[in-house]
Amino acid sequence: MIYVALDVPTTDEAIAIVDELAPENRFVKVGMELYYRGGNELVQVLQEKGCRIFLDVKMTDIPNTVYKATKQLAQLHVDFITICANGGVEMMKRAREAVEEVQGENPTTKLLAVTLLTSMEENMLRETFQTELSPEEWVAHQTRLAKQAGVGGIVCSVWESDRVRALYPEATIVTPGIRLQADASHDQKRVATPEEAGRRESDHLVVGRSITGKLNRNEAYETMLEAFEQGRGVRS
Ligand code: C5P
Repeated sequence: MIYVALDVPTTDEAIAIVDELAPENRFVKVGMELYYRGGNELVQVLQEKGCRIFLDVKMTDIPNTVYKATKQLAQLHVDFITICANGGVEMMKRAREAVEEVQGENPTTKLLAVTLLTSMEENMLRETFQTELSPEEWVAHQTRLAKQAGVGGIVCSVWESDRVRALYPEATIVTPGIRLQADASHDQKRVATPEEAGRRESDHLVVGRSITGKLNRNEAYETMLEAFEQGRGVRS
């Protein structure tokens, strides 16, 4: 599926985008900007409009705090909640336990470990984390941590998705940084087209500006989805 990033500051703007999408295309990502404004009330309004939700709060804190925070969020029964893999195995494990305690053994919510922001390229990675690892090696390392913690989902760029699949075959792989050939890449560094994402190992895409910035957002959604499905067809 494609989750549309509702990167807007107000609930009214978010709802306006959702209303433009056909009911079957209402898969949305609520990030920090919007969640800090609209909170759980907005999540509920979106769910009432038939939206499937990806809550992108990129949690990171001490394990006990993340455990308690995840217990709160698990009550929302969204599809995905993000957690930063660099918070460590113990933190991710506690988050998983929190979801299981609230939702049982087969939870509806899947945790996604964010491995590396798609805006981060090699030099930035080296300077920020003082590491000699390439983005791919870094993502591989973070994937191993997530697997060890039993976190079932991985967020990475399309370019690392093959490596992630090889390391963690049963993972749900979600890739942002998606652009049509004709679109600007903005602040994203490791961008790929939806076809490429489909040909490689993405299970779901996150698309923001390449849909929300278009005049006809529903048409943009369907164009992206068709291209993604075409790519996946080549894969199988
Ligand atoms: O507009 P654009 O398609 O670049 O939006 C991408 C969305 O995906 C943003 O909401 C951003 O926060 C999110 N994201 C990302 N890279 C990650 C995780 C999330 O770009 N590794």
